[in-house]
Amino acid sequence: MTEQSTIRRIAVSTGGGDAPGLNAVIRAVVLGALKEGWEVFGVKNSYEGLLDLDGLMPLTRESVKGITHRGGTILGTTNKGNPFDYPVKQEDGTVVTEDRSDLVVSNFKKAGLDALVSIGGDGSLSIANKFFKKGIPVIGVPKTIDNDLMATDFTFGFDTAVSTATDAIDKLHPTAEAHQRVMCVELMGRYAGWIALYAGFAGTADVILLPEIPFDIEKVCEKVREREARGRMFTIVVVAEGAKPKGGEMATKGKEVGREVRLGGIAEQVADAIGARMNKETRSLVLGHLQRGGNPSTFDRALGLRFGGAAVRAVKAGEFGSMVALRGGDVLTVSLEEATKEMKAVPLDHDIVQTARSFGVSFGD
Ligand code: F6P
Repeated sequence: MTEQSTIRRIAVSTGGGDAPGLNAVIRAVVLGALKEGWEVFGVKNSYEGLLDLDGLMPLTRESVKGITHRGGTILGTTNKGNPFDYPVKQEDGTVVTEDRSDLVVSNFKKAGLDALVSIGGDGSLSIANKFFKKGIPVIGVPKTIDNDLMATDFTFGFDTAVSTATDAIDKLHPTAEAHQRVMCVELMGRYAGWIALYAGFAGTADVILLPEIPFDIEKVCEKVREREARGRMFTIVVVAEGAKPKGGEMATKGKEVGREVRLGGIAEQVADAIGARMNKETRSLVLGHLQRGGNPSTFDRALGLRFGGAAVRAVKAGEFGSMVALRGGDVLTVSLEEATKEMKAVPLDHDIVQTARSFGVSFGD
């Protein structure tokens, strides 16, 4: 373990899908590190920047001026450049993967870096943990709009994504009502239904379909009929991208070598299935990457700044192999190994699920 006194130069990277609040973390890491008298380098485009020494950029007070409120990441990111399973295009156009992790470790050492603050979701943090085991002193910072990391109550990015999704659901209500339609909106979240649950609840959706609760399309139609019997001729259905019918599969967009499968298309399937079963006009939309865009909410900015500050303190204390986390209102550190062990799914007895059910919201089960 690198001793506190030996820290001179650290790097910070952002990996995986971007999430509003990344720049706030970067700013806090840079300002905190400069205060300690350390040099700071940004790793460009996730771990890609360590496959090549040109991938490091010096970060100064000037570099992080006025970025706290900006979405995206000044460092760039990717969700397809895992150095342990790196996709390489062959002459015949096919793609194979190779392990380039040793190159990352040797470039890290050549650059004279003493620690890496790796900001990422489950994928990037699992990679960070592997690098820790290969000798890179790493501190993880949890980010993802999906909020699916077990060790932290919330990840930054989630609150902003939920606000965007809730705003979209609010906007669907009047047009659904005017045309007496069933509107199905697909929200991100991968294999966890957090965004759909929070936005569907706050946006007063009538049906919320989550990956955690496989749905029966007949139950969804029942809810539409029940509303019509009460004179409510429109229905809002929020569909998590990972939702699936009972006994069925998630809707996917295909799989590229060296990256995770892309989800998408379930809202359209649900809308078509309702349309086919009922004499009802249906429409579907996919909110998509709008949920990752925009300025971070106050909560996400503050959480990002808190996580960045805590990451610097963890580097100083030599707590490598750990991740900063929010637990019960406090920011603390947990082991990266623990943090990346399992995904945080929506518990079936979550209070929002219980309260929504008590209001008559259908989960399609
Ligand atoms: O993990 C964040 C996320 O936005 C997921 O909710 C979504 O499934 C995925 O990334 C989309 O990835 P891409 O940017 O590659 O389309």
